[in-house]
Amino acid sequence: SDAADAHGMVVTITAGPTREPLDPVRYLSNHSSGKMGFALAKAAAERGARVRLISGPVALETPAGVERIDVESAVGMLEAAQEAAVDSDLFIGCAAVADYRAEQVAEHKIKKTAGDDALTLRLVKNPDIIATIAKNTAGKARPFMVGFAAETRELERYAQDKLNRKNLDMVVANDVGQAGLGFGAEDNAALVLWRETEGTPPGRLELPPQSKGALAATIIETALKRLHARQGS
Ligand code: C5P
Repeated sequence: SDAADAHGMVVTITAGPTREPLDPVRYLSNHSSGKMGFALAKAAAERGARVRLISGPVALETPAGVERIDVESAVGMLEAAQEAAVDSDLFIGCAAVADYRAEQVAEHKIKKTAGDDALTLRLVKNPDIIATIAKNTAGKARPFMVGFAAETRELERYAQDKLNRKNLDMVVANDVGQAGLGFGAEDNAALVLWRETEGTPPGRLELPPQSKGALAATIIETALKRLHARQGS
């Protein structure tokens, strides 16, 4: 059979930024466009997979045949991801999850205080969604876990570290220091690393700058091949 065929497979993908509320009208977020995650969802659906796309707030159309689950905060994304991961074969964490959220969300709009030129916000760490799911081995076999790593230096070392520390099967590393690539851009380049699993050796694949659509297709194909190799099919 085609080593990259995805018929009968369930794929869950997180995408976009998260939005962390401060009060009823304000939030903390980042500039993630969601383009890479949506391109991955499209590529997986085209391979025949059943795709669930868990997305933070983005201005993108849902790819054909993809089930979209809209979320806002990291905690909301974690809940949706945990539910979706239960019966998933492949889980790809492409979201730019906010590292911190407000310790307390103000019930009413935070007011300027006269005579005070500074405001202190106390933030607490958000859960690491992909690491939480990778660690959770209860129930059905854990999905094949793919994470992303955006780095400005020592790409391979930090990516390898992320692979190990978050207990992932594969990591897609982007050098975000290169002009015109990555965040918000149409194109991207990547270094894909995977670990040794059940008798199959570790490996790497260097993907030169190309459209996010082309890159997504290769990433999905590579993940499916590793997944099939692991399952011995
Ligand atoms: O640690 P860092 O944010 O660089 O890791 C990036 C990878 O981890 C991405 O796959 C991202 O989707 C995932 N992540 C996550 N939950 C977080 C932070 C990152 O799932 N709170």
